[in-house]
Amino acid sequence: MKKVLLPNGLNVSEIALGAMNFGTTTSKEEAYEVLDLYLDLGGNFIDTSNNYAHWAGTGDESETLLGQWLTDRGCRDRVVLATKVGFDRHGTGAGLQKKQIEYWIDESLRKLKTDYIDLYYAHTDDPDTPMEETMEAFHRLVEKGKVRTLGCSNFDTWRVAEANLLADKQGLTPYTVMQQRLSYLSPKFDVPPKYCYNEVVNRERLRFLQDKNMPLVSYACLCKGAYEDPSLLPEEYEGGKRLTLIRTMAQEKGVNPSALVLAWLVNLHRCAGYPRVIPLFSATPQQLLQNVRGLELALSQEDLDRMMEV
Ligand SMILES: NC(=O)c1ccc[n+]([C@@H]2O[C@H](COP(=O)([O-])OP(=O)(O)OC[C@H]3O[C@@H](n4cnc5c(N)ncnc54)[C@H](OP(=O)(O)O)[C@@H]3O)[C@@H](O)[C@H]2O)c1
Repeated sequence: MKKVLLPNGLNVSEIALGAMNFGTTTSKEEAYEVLDLYLDLGGNFIDTSNNYAHWAGTGDESETLLGQWLTDRGCRDRVVLATKVGFDRHGTGAGLQKKQIEYWIDESLRKLKTDYIDLYYAHTDDPDTPMEETMEAFHRLVEKGKVRTLGCSNFDTWRVAEANLLADKQGLTPYTVMQQRLSYLSPKFDVPPKYCYNEVVNRERLRFLQDKNMPLVSYACLCKGAYEDPSLLPEEYEGGKRLTLIRTMAQEKGVNPSALVLAWLVNLHRCAGYPRVIPLFSATPQQLLQNVRGLELALSQEDLDRMMEV
């Protein structure tokens, strides 16, 4: 697996592994198996949150399991660890106030058994807290060495632009990575997102990211397995011509459709107006082995044009 040096200095593998269900619906044994395999395959970019997966447990499970795995394997220095703050746990506590950020970073460090986070995301925007309070609180974490870089997820584009202008003016740390939904299938823009600000990326946002040289970590990019089994298609995506084409082309290339989706995402930056994209997904060990075959495909310009035209 190739590494990508991001503009903020993080050297990450070209795909990221989601740890959302580790310790809840994914058992410890299964989680260790997929984490070990991902590392063996050259992966190093692992994604969790301070609230995963509270809908299936307490919300501490994912970070706690990862902390134990990092300790058991002694591999903290080989991993680029991303976690998040700002969403609720069991319906309460959402927000990006200074006191929340200061509390949750220490909780994440404790659970993850580490003294620094490589990439700390605001998990969702908090328009009720002054932006300056949030950016200052995050900046202090960077100054203290608890956090290396900052990202944002589930934000409107204009809010990211405002936050980074404010950071620039006041000498604070900007957001340098965006985590938002993007897959190969086109979104249905008339279907409202499940929660505020988690819209699928549109072309304007992609141009913004490309212009700002800000990479996109595209979460849930495999649409819950719908490329393999179209009956799983989430309602916010169109199937249509794109689903047919990806399945046809995958067959032609001898890989599974999810592998070709990853190939498309990691190659998108070769197309005019598109930023660097790091696909983020979860998988069983067997699915991971299938999916990484996409990274070995050499997609030609003709392939990319064919995929973009529909
Ligand atoms: N920032 C945010 O707000 C946010 C929100 C959600 C998630 N995330 C992050 O994104 C990560 C990924 O989310 P997700 O799990 O919802 O991602 P996803 O990419 O939509 O779905 C992954 C699922 O697709 C299926 N799959 C993958 N490869 C497959 C294959 N080769 N064949 C058949 N099925 C395959 C598996 O489903 P089965 O297990 O059913 O087989 C797998 O669990 C999370 O772990 C989390 O870190 C972030």
